Amino acid sequence: MNSLYQRLNDLGGIAVAPSLLSADFSRLGEEIESVTRAGAGFLHIDVMDGHFVENISMGPIIIRAIASHAKLPLITHLMISDPLRYAEAFVECGSAVVSFHWEACADGHLGIVEKLHDLGCLAGLAINPDTPIEAIRHLLPSVDLLLCMTVFPGFGGQAFISDVLAKVREATRLRDEHGYGYVIEVDGGIKPANAAMVREAGGQILVAGTAVFKSPDYAEAIEAIRG
Ligand code: DX5
Ligand code: ZN
Repeated sequence: MNSLYQRLNDLGGIAVAPSLLSADFSRLGEEIESVTRAGAGFLHIDVMDGHFVENISMGPIIIRAIASHAKLPLITHLMISDPLRYAEAFVECGSAVVSFHWEACADGHLGIVEKLHDLGCLAGLAINPDTPIEAIRHLLPSVDLLLCMTVFPGFGGQAFISDVLAKVREATRLRDEHGYGYVIEVDGGIKPANAAMVREAGGQILVAGTAVFKSPDYAEAIEAIRG
């Protein structure tokens, strides 16, 4: 249960989580070793089902293989319909945190959080750029991670939506004011040029796919994003 907070703490409160979606899948093991050596804090795993989002990516079989190889904790980002149905499978394959989208279910959000906790996993709540904090306000005391999307989920390599930073600031303020426990992860279009704004707004785990894996020097990219 502790791998998220402990790891973040060890890294001084700010971490980069490379999104494996942009890695070379024909050399996934090597790619994971490279980002680990380059200073990644976590691995961000994007799960897409072709239903909640248009794209299809990977499922528990691949994640299990990643988990058996990786030395970093896995933060799994479920972009799938009916996350409750698959919660257990994504815990069992080795995720340290399983995040599901608020928009993927009409209700029952708290039930998913409880299920993840019962399974001994940390629970993350992901929200699209246009979902306001008020919609998820009642869930904030219960979640371990809040994932603020700075692109609409579905694809890597999209442009960062800077309007979301106001929401990140609001999430930071609410947490500090009420003593909630969630870590703030920000995902989508992050690169060295906008990372400082994300950190300043309160982003603690910065996801970066393109900016890391399409860069010639992973360590330099990660260092620039961490600041
Ligand atoms: C988008 C995914 C992101 C994305 C990040 O649906 O959730 O994690 O792949 O990639 P970049 O950094 O390229 O936007
Ligand atoms: Zn993601």
